[in-house]
Amino acid sequence: MTEPTAINPTPKIQIRGLKKAFGDNVILDGVDLDIGKGESVLVIGGSGSGKSVLLKCILGLLHPDSGSILVDGQEVVGLYGSDLEEVRAKFGMLFQNAALFDSLPVWENVAFGLVQGKGMDRIEAKALALEKLAAVGLNEEVAELSPAELSGGMRKRVGLARAIASNPEIIFFDEPTTGLDPIMGDVIDRLIVQCVRGLGATALSITHDMASARRISDRVAMLFQGKIIWSGPTKDIDHSGNPYVEQFIHGSSEGPIQMQIRSL
Ligand SMILES: Nc1ncnc2c1ncn2[C@@H]1O[C@H](COP(=O)(O)OP(=O)(O)OP(=O)(O)O)[C@@H](O)[C@H]1O
Ligand SMILES: [Mg+2]
Repeated sequence: MTEPTAINPTPKIQIRGLKKAFGDNVILDGVDLDIGKGESVLVIGGSGSGKSVLLKCILGLLHPDSGSILVDGQEVVGLYGSDLEEVRAKFGMLFQNAALFDSLPVWENVAFGLVQGKGMDRIEAKALALEKLAAVGLNEEVAELSPAELSGGMRKRVGLARAIASNPEIIFFDEPTTGLDPIMGDVIDRLIVQCVRGLGATALSITHDMASARRISDRVAMLFQGKIIWSGPTKDIDHSGNPYVEQFIHGSSEGPIQMQIRSL
């Protein structure tokens, strides 16, 4: 085992030497990252740098080529079936587009994992769903609507209520505020912080939105060319001294990161 982090002696998630390629296209090339218990870590990186691939490897939706992902000290790389499900029971996930089922009312979307995954009866699951919806500021009327009837901000709230429905120990957020106006983005960020703290959960997020990054994370890690090239407290991000991080947070096209724009 490698040395423990300064933040917590037993990381909630410990990633070492994680590699993933699609054919010749190397996406993750030895990612090392520790996420302490109760910590909120944010991964930043350009479009196509492999942020979602990293998240999918942790969730067990993609199988890495090599490396290790420990969750509470347990190796999850190579887990299948019920063993994988057992680890996944610790996870909550807010997908980028909220990924709601339009054929189900809002409350059933929130209760889905409780009924399907945990075998909870529908009445109990509905009561819990309503409680979680209230926690994100949505009332019983909204619970009966179809997701198609909601605004983008409301969909995110429903996605958040679903992500926290089973009181997960670890919550993943993929671009939680992308596509929202700045005020709704702030509202969602506050709810995220409130929910994560309320559960005492550990959080791993991905975002392009630096305002959001500053609000929701304790620590930022930057992914570039398949590796974490910088990691530090969010409050230090403006003084990282790292030219890649500086270019990224200032959204500048000039610097060491060169966009590969394929001409048609
Ligand atoms: N299932 C897959 N099969 C083949 N290539 C894939 C697959 N999933 C992702 N990739 C490739 O991996 C690279 C990284 O993709 P990923 O979705 O992780 O990027 P990202 O950092 O999340 O970008 P964005 O910020 O645009 O969401 C891309 O080049 C993508 O084409
Ligand atoms: Mg992505």
